Amino acid sequence: MPQPDISKTSATADQTAILNEVLARFATTPDPRLRAIMAGLISSLHQFVCDMKVTWPEWEQAMAFLARAASVTGPGRNEFIALSDSIGISMQVLAASQPKPPGATVPTLIGPFFIEDAPLFPMGANIAKGVSGEPLHVSGRVIDTTGRPVEDAIVNVWQSDDRGLYDVQDNFDPAHMWGRGRIHADAEGRYAFWSVMPTAYPAPMDAALGDLVHATTNKWWRPAHLHFAILTQKADPLVTHIFVRDSAHIDEDVAFGVRPALIADFASHAPGMAPDGTRMETPFRSLAYDFVLTRAGQ
Ligand SMILES: [Fe+2]
Repeated sequence: MPQPDISKTSATADQTAILNEVLARFATTPDPRLRAIMAGLISSLHQFVCDMKVTWPEWEQAMAFLARAASVTGPGRNEFIALSDSIGISMQVLAASQPKPPGATVPTLIGPFFIEDAPLFPMGANIAKGVSGEPLHVSGRVIDTTGRPVEDAIVNVWQSDDRGLYDVQDNFDPAHMWGRGRIHADAEGRYAFWSVMPTAYPAPMDAALGDLVHATTNKWWRPAHLHFAILTQKADPLVTHIFVRDSAHIDEDVAFGVRPALIADFASHAPGMAPDGTRMETPFRSLAYDFVLTRAGQ
């Protein structure tokens, strides 16, 4: 990867000499991918410091900011992921590493609340496990870009309730997870489950992310969404969200995860027959969404 020549920018001869000395030392990095990443990162950071004429107090402030992020990072919370999301870098990494052809479902960030061993449910089951919210029926297919079913897909879903909370934020008991589960798609790629409508929720604002957002954008909401991880050996796995079209804050996601193709209609229904034949005594919502996966080499 060609490195920027900072001698042609605002850098002084001394600044250029500093960068060149650093690059020369890191050029001995044995792993070629790490060597390239470090060279690019170091060059971009030096360029940034030269262009912005960063002062020492500003750099100290940056180091204190990162230390604050580290102080709240631990099991169940990673403030650095939240920061990465909040400046759109998580989405840029996905766009760079998982480019999708037209028609394929696009990926989004995984977020902080994924659990690998969520409960396994039979087709059509209710994953809400009694948590509050308007009933929601979700169904669709997992197919590839040629329309063929992805026959071994496991649909992993997790979501907030009508308070905007995930189970892991609410006196979490691993033996009693709610609002999350795994469902095996059938041979035709079909999946279905019942749950409740998700709700928009604020990003955690009590640490470094809050400091950043309050000083800059003042946007800290995530619009209502369902998280999905489509796990499969037969196609390229997919992590994404489906967003509720009429959600509050749909145009100001703190994590920049909203893509037009991931906004869906969650239809409103009066009491009556649900898509799976269930007789509903209360109003309910429904979502029909097909996930289109790529297959390696196609
Ligand atoms: Fe979420």
